[in-house]
Amino acid sequence: MTTPAAALVGVTQQFGGFTAVDSIDLKIPRGRLTTLLGPSGCGKTTTLRMLAGYSAPTSGRILIDGEDATRTPPEKRNLGMVFQSYALFPHMTVADNVAYGPKMRGVPGAERRRRAGEALELVGLAHLGDRKPKQLSGGQQQRVALARAVAIRPRLLLLDEPLSNLDARLRVQMRAEIRRIQSETGLTVVLVTHDQDEALEMSDEMVLMRAGKIVQTGAPRDVFPTPADRFVAEFLGYENFLTLADGRQAAVRPEHLRVVPLDTPADGAVALDATVRDVAYRGVDLLVTLDATDPAGTAVRLLADHRTDAAAGPTPSAGDRVRLLAPEARLALLPALSEPELDPVTEGIS
Ligand SMILES: Nc1ncnc2c1ncn2[C@@H]1O[C@H](COP(=O)(O)OP(=O)(O)OP(=O)(O)O)[C@@H](O)[C@H]1O
Ligand SMILES: [Mg+2]
Repeated sequence: MTTPAAALVGVTQQFGGFTAVDSIDLKIPRGRLTTLLGPSGCGKTTTLRMLAGYSAPTSGRILIDGEDATRTPPEKRNLGMVFQSYALFPHMTVADNVAYGPKMRGVPGAERRRRAGEALELVGLAHLGDRKPKQLSGGQQQRVALARAVAIRPRLLLLDEPLSNLDARLRVQMRAEIRRIQSETGLTVVLVTHDQDEALEMSDEMVLMRAGKIVQTGAPRDVFPTPADRFVAEFLGYENFLTLADGRQAAVRPEHLRVVPLDTPADGAVALDATVRDVAYRGVDLLVTLDATDPAGTAVRLLADHRTDAAAGPTPSAGDRVRLLAPEARLALLPALSEPELDPVTEGIS
């Protein structure tokens, strides 16, 4: 196995008596894009800052290229970082902003202008090098911040919610852009996000965090269909939780619950009788809220997406008695509920 680009070994970060990062072990694979994903306050930024060297762990070790870097200051780690709130130097041109990192590292003038040009090319802003940051849109500024981090040719590019200040469309564009830059340059990237779609779309490797701990890691295609527990399932948009007849817990996504007439055969799916409580129009589909009884006999509130085209069958309306079908293959089985998993939504928000 090749040495990971970076690794955290038993890393803990405490602030006063509070444990923000709780003894985590993590390997950052080289040349891949790893996302740290989790709700606000779960320790993502703290983890990134320790990787960058801006704060030292209370205990544990940080390895970069296999070597102990726990006490190495940030400027000696050769990492590029884009912070949650990106800050460009307002008095410098875009090109000078991007050339700043190489300048601080003693790269001669001609070479650093070349590198700045190259980095700006990469983010599609080569034509705006002479402007000042305030003459750019928010999305352009964010891309300059990215170019600035790339220009130092970092061993590791650390991005802390780099897309958070962009509008929805630009954010989607920039996801693809970062992916492209990553694959074209072969950079090792660690990206922090609390957006599940962003993580699913961009990651080679996803690292799910909760309350300072890592709860699941893996490629999106592996994590998404098999969430490790209810917390991960909720975070990934599994809105519905059932207890099956044999006592196992299962999660199912609204798009996999079919709302059908009462007499429809179950055909191997888990079938529940339900009453439609509410129907909300959402354009391509209806969001149907239902009251049902799960196979274990517990009353559950469920959400189903119902497509508005003819193939989906009769349109449900409030008060209808219906059948809900959950195909076995679409059920994500979960370990039995343990106490701390009962209220995952409010947890980690301090
Ligand atoms: N310097 C500090 N002193 C005290 N507590 C801190 C400090 N920095 C972070 N924390 C606490 O540590 C926890 C983790 O913070 P962190 O910034 O890593 O969260 P995050 O996952 O990045 O959240 P967000 O998505 O909101 O940015 C939070 O409860 C936060 O209040
Ligand atoms: Mg943060």
